[in-house]
Amino acid sequence: MTGGKKHGAVRPFTATTPPPVFSLLYLFLLVLSNTIVTINAQSKSPRKVSFTPADNFLIDCGGPKSTQLTDGRTFRSDPQSTSFLYTTEDIKLSSGINTSSISPIYLNARVFSDKSTYGFSISQPGCHWIRLHFYPFTNPRYNLSTAVFSINTDDIVLLHDFSISNSSIPVVKEYLITFNKERASLIFTPNKGSFAFINAIELVSAPDGLILDTVTNVQPAGQFSGISNYALEVSYRVNVGGPNIKPEEDTLGREWKPDIEFMEFAATAQNVSIDHRSIKYPDDGSVTPLTAPVVVYSTAEKMADSNTVDQNFNITWQMTASHAYSYLIRLHFCDIVSKGLNELYFNVYLNGLMGASSLDLSSLTSGLSTAYYKDFVINATTIINDTISIQVGPATGSDSGTPNAILNGLEVMKMSNSAGSLDGPYAVDGSYHGDYATKSTVTKIMSAIGLALGVVALILLGMMLCRWRRRPAGWEKKNSFSSWLLPLHVSQSSFLSSCSKGSYRHRFGSHKSKSGYSSFFASGTLGVGRIFTFAELQHATHNFDEKDVIGVGGFGKVYLGELEDGTKLAVKRGNPSSEQGIHEFQTEIQMLSKLRHRHLVSLIGCCDENSEMILVYEYMSNGPLRDHLYGSTGLPPLSWKQRLEVCIGAARGLHYLHTGAAQGIIHRDVKTTNILLDDSLIAKVADFGLSKAAPSLEQTHVSTAVKGSFGYLDPEYFRRQQLTEKSDVYSFGVVLFEVLCARPAINPALPREQVNLAEWAMQWHRKGQLEKIIDPHLVGTISPASLKKYVEATEKCLAEYGVDRPSMGDVLWNLEYALQLQEASMGQPNDDPSDNSARHILPESPLVPIQEQRGLATIDEDSTPEVTAMPLIEGR
Ligand SMILES: *[C@@H]1O[C@H](CO)[C@@H](O)[C@H](O)[C@H]1NC(C)=O
Repeated sequence: MTGGKKHGAVRPFTATTPPPVFSLLYLFLLVLSNTIVTINAQSKSPRKVSFTPADNFLIDCGGPKSTQLTDGRTFRSDPQSTSFLYTTEDIKLSSGINTSSISPIYLNARVFSDKSTYGFSISQPGCHWIRLHFYPFTNPRYNLSTAVFSINTDDIVLLHDFSISNSSIPVVKEYLITFNKERASLIFTPNKGSFAFINAIELVSAPDGLILDTVTNVQPAGQFSGISNYALEVSYRVNVGGPNIKPEEDTLGREWKPDIEFMEFAATAQNVSIDHRSIKYPDDGSVTPLTAPVVVYSTAEKMADSNTVDQNFNITWQMTASHAYSYLIRLHFCDIVSKGLNELYFNVYLNGLMGASSLDLSSLTSGLSTAYYKDFVINATTIINDTISIQVGPATGSDSGTPNAILNGLEVMKMSNSAGSLDGPYAVDGSYHGDYATKSTVTKIMSAIGLALGVVALILLGMMLCRWRRRPAGWEKKNSFSSWLLPLHVSQSSFLSSCSKGSYRHRFGSHKSKSGYSSFFASGTLGVGRIFTFAELQHATHNFDEKDVIGVGGFGKVYLGELEDGTKLAVKRGNPSSEQGIHEFQTEIQMLSKLRHRHLVSLIGCCDENSEMILVYEYMSNGPLRDHLYGSTGLPPLSWKQRLEVCIGAARGLHYLHTGAAQGIIHRDVKTTNILLDDSLIAKVADFGLSKAAPSLEQTHVSTAVKGSFGYLDPEYFRRQQLTEKSDVYSFGVVLFEVLCARPAINPALPREQVNLAEWAMQWHRKGQLEKIIDPHLVGTISPASLKKYVEATEKCLAEYGVDRPSMGDVLWNLEYALQLQEASMGQPNDDPSDNSARHILPESPLVPIQEQRGLATIDEDSTPEVTAMPLIEGR
């Protein structure tokens, strides 16, 4: 049979462009989850700052006279507000939802069947926030999710042909607009035959000097003046390396999201924090506690220790953006890592271009732990694949200290285009601007070195762009999923096609709308699951009893559940307050519902009632492989044969991920806690790390996630930031040593040379004395030929360079072979594994034919039926 070819034919993971769909999600999720905002709220931040906005319109559209929020702010109904509403016909609606889980401002809406205007009298000209709140509920008269409309100010288009279908949570759009006249308007225009709606409006003065007029232009390098001529839409606001900051925790009512979802290779960074009381603000007032909450500055990501002599790589964040706009990017820095002055020099790159070179924070701020920020404008033309990338990396050639680079906070703001719009090519007067990308016509190159240099710069840019485009796989992948997610899909074709088949394109083609997640299941396109009711799962888990918790991950807890019919389930419940999880939740459903394999833990269903995010998996009664290897679990040690079978199972699961039906998926987090065993000790690859040290839920994920996988990390991935299926192979090599030696991949308690299992075991192997460090339980039970084969395979997996590592299919082959050698040494396959009497009788190689029958036939048998059962999988 042709199996031999088949299993070796691992599809190359080339640098195909990944689908932008998922990154696009970030954008709209950010918007979606920007919930209620607050001014002067009781701040959890220890540094009490207050700010009294000159203009402060808070309108609960269509609501009762006044609505007091828990944060102390009062929203007024439109007639009570000092704004004016000009409309021919408007309708007050109430949602009929009787819930305390949602802010009262979302319980009412105003509906406009015709063009209508809110007028505001502005008492102090300058920069103002506009926050528009939408919650598309259904009312007997109107289903708000069918509304399609546009909103603009007198001269800026904020939203064009806007609609929100099926959002189960409120959508907030946030803008920074300069008003210089006494009167400002918000004009609602329904599309023909449709209507407009709004639940609440905030129009609030921003502090003076919040946005600078002149900033650094990235390309051409120079200055950009006239930011105040642009309207801004807040696309992302991130507390890098720190926790989510809720609107009510920020004096200015801003929400700051954690950065993990934007990080390209989470393993390259490590979060750090210091006591917020140590943070200083510069005396000149250039940065104040209003610039960003102190928690933004007291937390950061720094470079993770790669354990290589030449620590040189970038930390990369990526976010979806539109190539039709320029963006204002504000990066917040505070040197909380250095021990002395002038120790930290690093470069900042935006879209692959140098933004700041050899930034020395201590000299810029005259001291450590002092808040600082730097603004950049990136030109629409530098945005490739609709992705903004922000990178920090050590400045080479700096002679001091350990190379390092940090980032504390990040704000990304879209700049209005030449049509005066933040949403498409149409101007307020309806005119169409074909070439509407944000023009940097106001850009002035202060360096003024003349045309000649400009040409040189262009050539250089061209070269950089070429290089940039040639960057292999890792570079272009922006859909890096957070750690609780199973696989990273790298093959574009099948993925896109499956996405576009579903309602995905429709929903995410514009980031304005969102469906409930259960529609993923219900839509039939991915229909491989069951929708559980919340009550059902509540019952199954004894109301999510802490006693039923079998694991904790960054995202939430995993409970053991039992259905009426006795079926046991593993129920992963997303922390309901973690809104950023929705994306991962949807993605996981999307991925897992396509993946069916005997050696992958299957997803049984999900539940999204009451804004819960719950995934239900088959229950693996024997838990993670690690528990069977070491630690005080009291489980009996596995025999060599059992270990081989477990490894073979896991290898099959991974082989399927890499090459099987859902081709081109990289697991990214292969380790002994992600290999689970069922009641007959069949190994299945899973995503959730059951043994992850339980972090308190408010503690963030980044470094735990990274540390959890340290020791398994492909050094090449670390160095070159390229993720390939060979990274999984490396990690699997570490697993193989872990299985053999029964010790953790990293054990910091050991002497230095023993800390890292892969290195340590390879040292012993090179000395030819590996048997000295194998699990004492195995000593004397392994056939030398089997051991030899096994270690050979392991060694190859751990090769320094990915190209030198075998494919998972080859690894599988070798493990199968090692198992046969072991079985042969024991006389017959079903011998008691502890019976070693026959163990040295094995010939070295004549078993290949048997192996071919077995191993390869099994691979086919494992993967082929799934292909046919999965109509969605394409592009094979
Ligand atoms: C960091 O990123 C920049 C811009 O993409 C690139 O030019 C540079 O080579 C990177 N540095 C390393 C060490 O990868």
